[in-house]
Amino acid sequence: MTTAAPFLIVAIDGGAASGKSSTSRALSEQFHLLHVDTGSHYRFVTHQLLERGVSPEDEAAVAAALAALPLGQRIVGRSSVIEIAGQIPGDEIRGPRVNENVSRFAAVPAVRRFLLAYQRSQAQVARTGGFRGLVMEGRDIGSVIFPEADFRFFLHADPVERARRRAAEGQTDSIAERDRLDAARKTAPFVCPAGATPIDSTHMTLPQVVDHLAALIAPRLGGSQP
Ligand code: DC
Repeated sequence: MTTAAPFLIVAIDGGAASGKSSTSRALSEQFHLLHVDTGSHYRFVTHQLLERGVSPEDEAAVAAALAALPLGQRIVGRSSVIEIAGQIPGDEIRGPRVNENVSRFAAVPAVRRFLLAYQRSQAQVARTGGFRGLVMEGRDIGSVIFPEADFRFFLHADPVERARRRAAEGQTDSIAERDRLDAARKTAPFVCPAGATPIDSTHMTLPQVVDHLAALIAPRLGGSQP
């Protein structure tokens, strides 16, 4: 008797520079899971709204502008990259202007509603694309987007170590301030949801974090490689 291969959903939440992106990409590679970076969704939407002169304080204007932004995705390697009106994001979404504004737009309920169905739809994109599952990184994946995910990890690290990692990437980013705003917002605040597995990566290397999570995931895929 043969059983269908399971389709796994892995949620990886974590603060700025917690290592979630590198970890998610490594797991995507190792297990042939579709990788989705939801931070890039908030960043690209922020960029688009700033370009249109929309303020995060004006929710009606935000909602009106969002209604005119058609979403899609492009598969690049093992990642699903957001498209807005056929365009994918570039380096501008990692710049200081977006860094300074993204938490404010991410706190607007209309922005979160706009991205929720899109982010959930990525599971179907992964199935259709022949992936063995989905690894999605963000702040509310295990709490709001996929609370029933097969794995829900919550990565955190000491703020000093995270600032060191960002500086090593050559980025200017007020990570503590962003985390404070993200945790304080009313809609989908950034918290470790009940039942998620917290991982403190302060004293772990990236390969150690990846190996630790991979050892938990592998048995669910029958131990076989793609
Ligand atoms: O992961 P990142 O640092 O690129 O995310 C940028 C911002 O997007 C972050 O400060 C908060 C917001 N975000 C969010 O509110 N929910 C998510 N699922 C992902 C990101």
